Amino acid sequence: MRRTAIAVTLAAASGVVLAAASQPAPSRSVWDGVYTAAQAERGAFVYGRYCQRCHGADLSGPGAMGGGLPGQSPAPALVGGEFNYRWHELSVADLVQRIRVSMPPGNPAALSRPDSTDVLAYMLDRGGFPAGEHELPIGLPELSTIAFLAARP
Ligand code: HEC
Repeated sequence: MRRTAIAVTLAAASGVVLAAASQPAPSRSVWDGVYTAAQAERGAFVYGRYCQRCHGADLSGPGAMGGGLPGQSPAPALVGGEFNYRWHELSVADLVQRIRVSMPPGNPAALSRPDSTDVLAYMLDRGGFPAGEHELPIGLPELSTIAFLAARP
């Protein structure tokens, strides 16, 4: 009984990152207007406070602080071809999870879940993906139904 509970707890903990990748196939994509302009505006504020110093004012790579920590690789662009192809055909849930577990480095808990969703909306806006009438949802199951596609299908 006890062992089962521990196994379940471990599975839940290690599944945090993988869970998003194993969700059902996405039914829509970042080209379908999956965030609002107001949400992106809130995200711009979060970005300016927590991300810009490393990822740059225009999200195109090393900002004033470069990689941030000594010996760390420079922060990559969060918009554009290379970034888009790295995330191509993954889901928006995978991307937001990447932010939630690792950004900003050393202190990912600094961002609330709404903040990390808003900052993703800002990244989509700057990346040239269209805004729409509904905000990006906060829950991973809902986010996993939205595919990240490098090019308009
Ligand atoms: C101290 C510098 C620093 C800060 C602040 C920072 N990042 Fe990063 N970020 C990096 C570095 C370096 C990498 C690449 C290495 C790694 O993954 O740790 C990275 C990688 C990423 C990636 C993966 C990019 C890819 O091509 O797959 C995303 C997404 C990201 N950061 C988003 C953010 C967001 C959003 C914020 C603000 C909440 C943020 N980062 C704050 C330095 C930083």
